[in-house]
Amino acid sequence: MSTQASKLEALMDAQHNGRGGTRVVAITSGKGGVGKSTLSANIAYVLASRGYRVGLMDADIGLANLDVMFNVRAERNILHVLKGEARFEDIVVPLEENLFLIPGESGDEILKFSDATIVSRFIDESQMLEGLDFLIIDTGAGIGDTIQMFLKAADEVVVVTIPDPAAITDAYAMVKVISRIKSDLSMIVNQVRNAKEGMKIFETIKKVAFGNIGEDLELKMLGSVRSDAHVARSVKQRVLVCKELSNIAPAGDIEAIAMAIADKKEHKMLERGREGGIGTFFKKLLGQF
Ligand SMILES: Nc1ncnc2c1ncn2[C@@H]1O[C@H](COP(=O)(O)OP(=O)(O)OP(=O)(O)O)[C@@H](O)[C@H]1O
Ligand SMILES: [Mg+2]
Repeated sequence: MSTQASKLEALMDAQHNGRGGTRVVAITSGKGGVGKSTLSANIAYVLASRGYRVGLMDADIGLANLDVMFNVRAERNILHVLKGEARFEDIVVPLEENLFLIPGESGDEILKFSDATIVSRFIDESQMLEGLDFLIIDTGAGIGDTIQMFLKAADEVVVVTIPDPAAITDAYAMVKVISRIKSDLSMIVNQVRNAKEGMKIFETIKKVAFGNIGEDLELKMLGSVRSDAHVARSVKQRVLVCKELSNIAPAGDIEAIAMAIADKKEHKMLERGREGGIGTFFKKLLGQF
């Protein structure tokens, strides 16, 4: 058996592992280039290294970020599964122990799949991913229709910004849109000098959001990540910061964020048992829920 196949088998064997279903976390931003792919990949890696089973979905296929970062080729994606041209096991790429890349789809074509038979076959197929503890989705930037669908379907949405004023404005616009569809909303401020700067930016956005959206909005700070030239270089060198440069400041910052994400899952499990699971996520994504 090929290594790819045996690794996927490990994923499938883990079905119904009793850990409380799959928690779906969408990482998004208003402005592009703020660090979504870097953060998604590293958060996913940290969670996987702590023993969680993690799917990393690239919904930003147009720009093909994550497969490039991990130096793997993803030729087919969930759209091919929807069309019946591939199965989930053909498109899922094992990256590390416990870490699987699931090539997503950013085009509008996915929105056209309303045929109940096609969708339900797809959802049945998706059961092979039921053993995942987390699905981390790199959604790409902006408020396009497809991105909004992913955000709506996720359990938790994380908006990333950087200290740049244009990025802050776009992050606020994003928060405003997402607040209509999601109550579990948090922020990461990336590329800061220190945690204080990150907190200040978060407070500014939160204040404006409260003023305009109202106090029902639950916007939380997930954390900030310090700027470091090693991170910028790491992407070009295809080095995963939290794996290979784990002693630099941003790696520690990202680890703390990943642990906060893990804590939330553990809390949710105590509160109300299982998460909705992968099938529920895909049903919501494809508008069948
Ligand atoms: N904490 C950081 N310190 C220094 N550079 C960083 C940091 N985080 C991200 N970068 C760099 O910023 C650039 C953009 O990051 P990345 O590609 O992850 O952003 P993105 O939001 O996914 O972009 P896009 O919207 O184009 O998909 C990359 O070169 C990355 O290495
Ligand atoms: Mg990206």
